[in-house]
Amino acid sequence: VKIAVLGTGVVGQSLGGRLAELGHQVVFGTREPDATLARTGPDQFGRPPFGAWLHEHPGIELATFADAAAQADLVVNATSGHGSLPALRAAGDDNLAGKVLVDISNALDFSAGFPPHLFVKDTDSLGEQIQREFPRARVVKTLHTVTASVMIGPKDLAGGDHTVFVSGDDPEAKQVVTDLLHSFGWTDVLDLGDLSTARGTEMYVGLWTRLLSATGGTGHFNIKVVR
Ligand SMILES: NC(=O)c1ccc[n+]([C@@H]2O[C@H](COP(=O)([O-])OP(=O)(O)OC[C@H]3O[C@@H](n4cnc5c(N)ncnc54)[C@H](OP(=O)(O)O)[C@@H]3O)[C@@H](O)[C@H]2O)c1
Repeated sequence: VKIAVLGTGVVGQSLGGRLAELGHQVVFGTREPDATLARTGPDQFGRPPFGAWLHEHPGIELATFADAAAQADLVVNATSGHGSLPALRAAGDDNLAGKVLVDISNALDFSAGFPPHLFVKDTDSLGEQIQREFPRARVVKTLHTVTASVMIGPKDLAGGDHTVFVSGDDPEAKQVVTDLLHSFGWTDVLDLGDLSTARGTEMYVGLWTRLLSATGGTGHFNIKVVR
């Protein structure tokens, strides 16, 4: 499958690398490819710049948001919360139409420091905002409740016996994403229902940030829904 990963941060890199390992064709989307490649300093987490990462991953391409989405059968939104709607507008409504859009974003507002506030919550979610603005895209919200390394390596934690959620209005799209999650090693994929259920998982970040502080700051944890 040709997959566009919109977002060049740690989430995009983790997913893009894993998807390529699994045999998918991966193209990254960014605002300005030349500017992204010209970055030489470490990113906000002290990781090497995207260009260095890309160099280590031959076969993965970099394009504008629009060119990446246009080529892809499936699109991943791994852009910042504030950047998600602008990035998807740049990707273009026609380039998203009919495609599964895996949304991993969180509506984080760091303007008052840590822990972040949410700029959408309770009565709406970022996933729903995206679906409303791009009604022809088949939005599935998932993976935003765990840190990037856990997204692609659930087995490294408690043998994989913990829960990831999917929310979306399109059952077939959720099945496509569930199959993708299984290919990453997820075994407990819990379908919460329609996309409005993403309000619950997006608000979970309020607990997630406290768990992060309480468990040593690695982000290497998750929750298990015991039935
Ligand atoms: N970090 C984690 O472990 C984690 C876990 C769960 C969920 N998430 C969520 O996953 C998403 C990605 O997180 P991240 O840490 O990998 O990266 P990030 O720093 O939150 O986002 C980086 C990406 O956002 C794009 N971007 C930023 N502002 C933009 C704007 N105004 N218009 C268009 N694009 C814009 C950047 O584009 P350029 O490429 O052009 O710079 C870049 O590709 C976020 O929504 C985050 O909340 C992260």
